[in-house]
Amino acid sequence: MTVDVALIGVGVMGDAVLTSLVSVVGADRVQVTDGRPEHGKERAAAHGVRWGGSNAETAKGAGVVVLAVKPKDVSAVLADIGPVLAADTVLVSIAAGIPTAFLETRLDQPVPVVRVMPNTPATIGQGVSVMSPGSHATGEHLDQVAGLLAGTGTVLRVPESDQDVVTAISGSGPAYVFYLIDALAEAGVLGGLSRATALELATRTVAGAGAMAAASEEHPVLLREKVSSPAGTTVAGVRALDEHGVRAGLVAAVEAARTRSIELGRTLAD
Ligand SMILES: NC(=O)c1ccc[n+]([C@@H]2O[C@H](COP(=O)([O-])OP(=O)(O)OC[C@H]3O[C@@H](n4cnc5c(N)ncnc54)[C@H](OP(=O)(O)O)[C@@H]3O)[C@@H](O)[C@H]2O)c1
Repeated sequence: MTVDVALIGVGVMGDAVLTSLVSVVGADRVQVTDGRPEHGKERAAAHGVRWGGSNAETAKGAGVVVLAVKPKDVSAVLADIGPVLAADTVLVSIAAGIPTAFLETRLDQPVPVVRVMPNTPATIGQGVSVMSPGSHATGEHLDQVAGLLAGTGTVLRVPESDQDVVTAISGSGPAYVFYLIDALAEAGVLGGLSRATALELATRTVAGAGAMAAASEEHPVLLREKVSSPAGTTVAGVRALDEHGVRAGLVAAVEAARTRSIELGRTLAD
């Protein structure tokens, strides 16, 4: 890849994206900026990339510009960079809930826009990022962005209309899993384990089962059946999960998060 890449906003998620950008195009082809110059310069030095100065100076001449600011700050950044974007600059936004149409209508030219929903395991290269093209973005643009994000973990594509449910599953999902780990650990403490042992057991079990489900070609139902002996302990535990509505609770959590994502998208786009 020969284009230069600009990253605007080196916060939690921007930093994860930056690690990937550097590994794909090399530090000498990346420049960054941030609302807090001291913090941004420190992160630029840590990754060995250039500090770009203002948003406009950073974006000018870049083949790809990645917006990694909070959704509320997107309009201000677009106002800064709109005048300097070339028509063939690919604009990538990881801002949750901001539709590609919102970005397109604030730019003077038909720039290819790609919306991406990453998640926090991207910070250790094990995230899942889900991309959707704007109206001027082609399959080639998506391929280019997928390549740039390869270091953050798995990269998938969906129509933009699916982004709210994606946000509710993979975007918010790590929080549900942390919630489950905490509950499992607390149950271990109730059973007499030390807090440290209970937390380690809960964390390693979730990590191991997740890795196994990801590596296996079998459906999770089959994996669960394999560890459920007739009249055994696991089937008794799973029955208690059903009796307490844990499956229904997860479905309700995703529904609530999806509804909230739709609401936030409307508010932000107004
Ligand atoms: N964290 C997640 O789990 C997650 C998951 C999916 C998507 N996202 C999306 O990723 C984006 C970044 O989230 P984050 O958690 O990384 O946020 P963050 O840690 O707050 O980082 C955002 C960075 O952007 C900077 N910034 C703000 N306004 C700016 C401006 N006008 N020009 C240049 N830089 C500016 C901020 O500086 P200041 O501190 O000075 O404001 C901050 O350093 C958000 O849009 C979010 O929706 C996050």
